[in-house]
Amino acid sequence: MQEEGTAGLHGYSPSLGIDYVREAIADSLNRRFGMSYTKDHIFPTSGCAAALTHAFHLVTVPGDTVLAFAPYFPEYHPYVDLTGARLKVVPPDVKNFQVDFEKFEEALTPDVMAILVNTPNNPSGTVLTPETLTAMADILKRKEKEFGHDIYLISDEPYREIVFEGVDAPYVAKYYDKTITCYSFSKSVSLPGERIGYVAIAPECPEAETMIQMCGQISRGVGHNCPSSLIQRAVVSVLDMTSDLSVYEKNMNILYKELTGLGFSVVKPRGTFYMFPKALEEDAKVFARKALKYDLLLVPGDTFECPGYFRIAYCIDTEKVERSLDAFRRFVKAEYGM
Ligand SMILES: Cc1ncc(COP(=O)(O)O)c(C=O)c1O
Repeated sequence: MQEEGTAGLHGYSPSLGIDYVREAIADSLNRRFGMSYTKDHIFPTSGCAAALTHAFHLVTVPGDTVLAFAPYFPEYHPYVDLTGARLKVVPPDVKNFQVDFEKFEEALTPDVMAILVNTPNNPSGTVLTPETLTAMADILKRKEKEFGHDIYLISDEPYREIVFEGVDAPYVAKYYDKTITCYSFSKSVSLPGERIGYVAIAPECPEAETMIQMCGQISRGVGHNCPSSLIQRAVVSVLDMTSDLSVYEKNMNILYKELTGLGFSVVKPRGTFYMFPKALEEDAKVFARKALKYDLLLVPGDTFECPGYFRIAYCIDTEKVERSLDAFRRFVKAEYGM
């Protein structure tokens, strides 16, 4: 930074991003996941939000469909809606929040141009397994032949590094050639305010380099052009690093033990800083409203198109998580006699 001139630090970056930054991101992905990206497969963006927006514009025209899986990050709706495509949602597999393949195949109609996955997942904390990704890739390849058009896999993975001990978090693009990876440094190095991430298009994807050039055009249309030059340069030095993420697993274990002990049904999170237990009454909105009286801010699953569940975010100090336990105890005792 000290050696870089003012224009390099504070001027507009090139429309496809700063070359050495793109190269460094490609090298890091190749080293860590055995991929063969070059800089021509990488497009820096203002966070994952912008990466997703570019991906949706890349692979749809108005009238197309993007298929997502409940529970899902609700902002997918505005991102997709603005392209003129529509978001269709596969109902959840509440056993373990993997994929209900029967419902997936039912929803996979010829108007679907892209499938959107988010692993590790907000809000469930689940991580898609190699078996799930393999089965999904097989179905997509079969349906591409049947429909006579490409189907892209958009992988939203801002929580890629936040996985708990013993969990194997597969790199999605290894399972399917036409994968567009959307990444963000918001979570791994805890700097969401800096708005930096990227799109990475799998080298095996036909026309990958052309698609990256297209991102340069899309960025002007969506107004997310030229992410901060300063921050592009800064992330190069933390590509293979994370902030101390151990606090999330510690918080998760404290909450999981307490909530299951109280009688909640919870699929144990395998990553992220979220947990998605079943509410203690059918309407999770009513449940979450009652919890407010005890200073518990719980997000009803309806927000994620998964009614009957609620999300807890534990990206907070452990001391605060510990203080919440008594509030949970008082809440379930007073409201549900448990
Ligand atoms: C699943 C998911 N995707 C995308 C985003 C957006 O990430 P960013 O803040 O880097 O734009 C978030 C942010 O919370 C998220 O949870």
